[in-house]
Amino acid sequence: MTELERVAWPPAPIRTERLVLRESEGRDRAGFVELFASPEVGTYTGGSRPRDELERVVPEVPGRRRGLFVIEHGGTMIGIIELNRRDPERRSKVRPDTGEAELGYLLLPEAWGHGYAAESCRAALGWFADLLPGEPVVLTTRTDNERSLRLAAKLGFTEVRRYVEYGAEQWFGVWSSAPPR
Ligand SMILES: CC(C)(COP(=O)(O)OP(=O)(O)OC[C@H]1O[C@@H](n2cnc3c(N)ncnc32)[C@H](O)[C@@H]1OP(=O)(O)O)[C@@H](O)C(=O)NCCC(=O)NCCS
Repeated sequence: MTELERVAWPPAPIRTERLVLRESEGRDRAGFVELFASPEVGTYTGGSRPRDELERVVPEVPGRRRGLFVIEHGGTMIGIIELNRRDPERRSKVRPDTGEAELGYLLLPEAWGHGYAAESCRAALGWFADLLPGEPVVLTTRTDNERSLRLAAKLGFTEVRRYVEYGAEQWFGVWSSAPPR
């Protein structure tokens, strides 16, 4: 077990100026269905899934796992952040992948363009840095996902390499809370 897996989960809800980051609850189910049924959300993340299939298979309390934060705005779920290590079977076959902590984000389209993704990701990275100071976080996003690339840069991720996987060019970046040497 690594240090990240030893961190107590779930943490107390994390509050920012406009948002709350918290563990998922049963009332978030409709939001999860929306998220995974949305063609816009799926454009760069492997596509959307049929709503009727999601209604059948999404559990009563979806996304209840270590490292998954629901982003709440005004009492309603607007998206999710994951900050965790990939399971071994999901690791990249193309770039060197030693299972670093990785950040991922999915917001409902109506929540784009308000700075909510940046606000919530900063809070999640702050939570991580307090627990594991100096430990790097990585991020992978398609290079044609312009919103995501802008967000990665805003958060302070720097490019390590580009490579092709899943039929598309991927941007692989790293962030660290350690002061630059
Ligand atoms: C990637 C994604 C999270 C980016 O969302 P986003 O809302 O563009 O990101 P930010 O939170 O950084 O918001 C930036 C925008 O909010 C605007 N904004 C408005 N009010 C703001 C405020 N108070 N503070 C900051 N920005 C604000 C900015 O001007 C910017 O707008 P622009 O893109 O038109 O220039 C979103 O597009 C998404 O969920 N995509 C689908 C999932 C996906 O592809 N994930 C990547 C795989 S890891």
